[in-house]
Amino acid sequence: MAKKSFTVINGPNLNLLGTREPDVYGSETLDDIKKQTTDRLKEFDVEIEWFQSNIEGEIVEKIQQISSSKIDALIINPAAYSHTSVAILDALKMLSIPVVEVHLSNTHHREEFRSTKLTAKASTIIMEGLGSNAYYMGIKSQLI
Ligand code: DQA
Repeated sequence: MAKKSFTVINGPNLNLLGTREPDVYGSETLDDIKKQTTDRLKEFDVEIEWFQSNIEGEIVEKIQQISSSKIDALIINPAAYSHTSVAILDALKMLSIPVVEVHLSNTHHREEFRSTKLTAKASTIIMEGLGSNAYYMGIKSQLI
C-alpha cells in the first residue's frame, strides 16, 4: 500500500486535555494522544500532521490549505465549534477527501446543545464516545 498522509485538526480547549474536565475527557494530554496514535499506527506507512488552534479563523485557513494539498483524509475534532461554526462547515464542504469528525466524549449523553453538530453535515464519518481511541480509529478507518 502506498504511503498515506493525514492531517489531524483539534479545535478550542483541546490543548488543555489532561487537566480539562478529566472526568469527561480523560487524563491524557494532547501530546500523549499524538504519541499513542502514532505508535499504534507504526505498522502502516502513514504521515500525520497535527494542528491545534483555539481560533476559528485559523482552523478555516488550515482547512483551506488542505483543499489544495494532497492528503488522503482529514481527521477533525472541531470541539465547541462543531456546535456553532458555519465557517468551519463551509470550509469542510470544499474538501474532496474524506472527513472523519471525532469527539472524545459521547455528546448525546451531555447537554442538549452538544447534540447539534453543524460540521457533521460535511463529515464522512463521525466517531464519538471512544475517548482518545477515536484518533487512531479515525485514521485506521481510512486504511482498510
Ligand atoms: C468535544 C465535545 C464538544 O462538545 C466540546 O465542546 C469539546 C470537546 C469532544 O471531543 O468530546 O471541546 O468535541
